[in-house]
Amino acid sequence: MASLAMLFLFSLYSISTCTATDSCQEMAASGNCAFYSECVEKRVPCGPNGYALGYGGKYCIKFGENIDCFPANGQQWINKVRICLETALVNSTVYRNNATCEDIKDYAFKTHPQCYLDAGFCSVILDSPTNLYCLYKVFDVKDFFSKLAINQVYQTLKSCASG
Ligand SMILES: *[C@@H]1O[C@H](CO)[C@@H](O)[C@H](O)[C@H]1NC(C)=O
Ligand SMILES: *[C@@H]1O[C@H](CO)[C@@H](O)[C@H](O)[C@H]1NC(C)=O
Repeated sequence: MASLAMLFLFSLYSISTCTATDSCQEMAASGNCAFYSECVEKRVPCGPNGYALGYGGKYCIKFGENIDCFPANGQQWINKVRICLETALVNSTVYRNNATCEDIKDYAFKTHPQCYLDAGFCSVILDSPTNLYCLYKVFDVKDFFSKLAINQVYQTLKSCASG
């Protein structure tokens, strides 16, 4: 009887850990903004100034709040970028191995320009004054993180010019 109970508890435990892993994969695959607070921050808590809450999650939500500003192709760009960033992170060794806050931030930041480009930044955003204006609206210039954000966009722009 005791071993049956143990088996039952063990199965419950396996199911719940399995579900937790899968739901983070799913959230990332669909670009869900909750991925940052529910997965990254829970795994490696870095507080409001860490990458997950202070940057990745924050801008994921801010893009959502301003989504109506963007024309259809800009909205598609946002969705692709979200999926690209979250997918890169959920499958990265820094995420899997619960690396330090600094390592997660460094890794995540490096993925931004490539995800912007892969989602079509040069043709979709750069060629559209409306999209550029809306992008500008999303970045809060008074915010410390906005400097980093603008730098990401600048790095991306350089690739558009050279590519
Ligand atoms: C992460 O990698 C696994 C194994 O390669 C893959 O099955 C999964 O789809 C990837 N996750 C995402 C969100 O792309
Ligand atoms: C990382 O943290 C999660 C959540 O706290 C834990 O379930 C997992 O076992 C940890 N993984 C490693 C490799 O330490």
